[in-house]
Amino acid sequence: MTNISDEQARRMTEAHLHMPQGVAENYRYWGEEQTVFVDHVQGCRLTDCDGKEYVDFRLGYGPIILGYRDSRVDAAVIKAITELGTISGFSTPMDVEVVKRVKSLCPNIDKMRFANSGTEAVMGALRTARGFTGRNRVVIVEGGFHGLTDEMMWKSDVEGWDASSGTTPDIIPFGAGIPASTRDLVDFIPLNDSEALTQLFSEKGDQIAAVLLEPIMGNCGSIAATPAWMQELRDTCTQHGSMLIIDEVKTGFRVAKGGAQELYGIHADLTTYAKAMGNGYPVACFGGRAEVMDVIGAGGGVVHGGTYTANLVALSAANATVDILANTDALATVERVGAAIRDVLGRVFTAAGIEHRFAGPAAMFGIHFGDNVPTNYRDWKSTDSDLYTAFAWQLIEHGVMLEPDSREPWFICESHRDVDLGWLEDVATKSMKIAMEAS
Ligand SMILES: Cc1ncc(COP(=O)(O)O)c(C=O)c1O
Repeated sequence: MTNISDEQARRMTEAHLHMPQGVAENYRYWGEEQTVFVDHVQGCRLTDCDGKEYVDFRLGYGPIILGYRDSRVDAAVIKAITELGTISGFSTPMDVEVVKRVKSLCPNIDKMRFANSGTEAVMGALRTARGFTGRNRVVIVEGGFHGLTDEMMWKSDVEGWDASSGTTPDIIPFGAGIPASTRDLVDFIPLNDSEALTQLFSEKGDQIAAVLLEPIMGNCGSIAATPAWMQELRDTCTQHGSMLIIDEVKTGFRVAKGGAQELYGIHADLTTYAKAMGNGYPVACFGGRAEVMDVIGAGGGVVHGGTYTANLVALSAANATVDILANTDALATVERVGAAIRDVLGRVFTAAGIEHRFAGPAAMFGIHFGDNVPTNYRDWKSTDSDLYTAFAWQLIEHGVMLEPDSREPWFICESHRDVDLGWLEDVATKSMKIAMEAS
């Protein structure tokens, strides 16, 4: 962003006095001049503290599926907290009501438990898988992201990898403070790589508690597993007695009513949901086969709990959101509007002579500059992500908010139906022209 306002500089200086990096969590730091301070949000729009309005395709990393401040969801939450209360540390009738709603859309869930974030949901699912199998190792797919617990904070260093070296990328921690011992619990394979899958299971199959993946990688440009590879993965897990955990934190209640598993027709043993489940309210869950989930319990069983678990802010938001998604055409609108937006962008790229490919469903699509849809994270390296980043910064400058990193997809919500596509085409055309001149 250019022309930083005096106010922005003042806000940043003050924030540095009180928070590391001047932000409430690491991923919000975009640089001294670029870090966004939001005044308010509404529908698909965000207004920053300088009064500048953006059409938002980042949507807080994906939880907004209907629109910001959806009055139907907000009314349900206000009713719950004013008439019932927020928290008691006891069961409420709404617990089962929400589980039944989730089960009506997600036939892979027999039994379920709640959590407050995707990180917590993954933690619960992993512990359950370990409790059920009596094994410790977890297989992660390169480019996936599964929250901030220590063992999930290891990644394949594709950014620092020389693709022509003939070596595989190093596995590195996301940052400081991650005990090296947690590295020993995780193995990595590339998405869609049958050979790597077979080899890993032939070496360590009897130690693998679970394979944990996003079949449509919401943290890697929506690069998707092929249906054939997903079936192979399902069969391999079954054959070796390992749990298949599908992390639907981003895809759940977004890419289809029944999430990615509805699109693939593949059932996980355990699944995690969060984000779109509550349209921005902090609610999450994990669940799966009854036999597996029933290892949770007292007397030597798996421990799951927490003070804020299934609080009524979270549950009332999920109750209303899942009801709306189940009983209205909201997701059909998201799909239709997302496809129209993708068409606009495709026209802009074609007019500019840029080879491009889209990945993933219209509700959460990735853009890759190059002549192939990447099939895994290593492939992503051959796309022109620098051009994408330059284009994204220009879009932001011109009032379109998104993550300036092609690994983060474009998120669509029902409120995007109000977006003027002619305006978007003009802005994208202008932004691409400037990005290309600069590169
Ligand atoms: C697939 C996936 N799993 C887990 C998480 C962690 O969720 P949270 O940020 O709610 O802890 C994320 C966050 O983006 C995610 O995309």
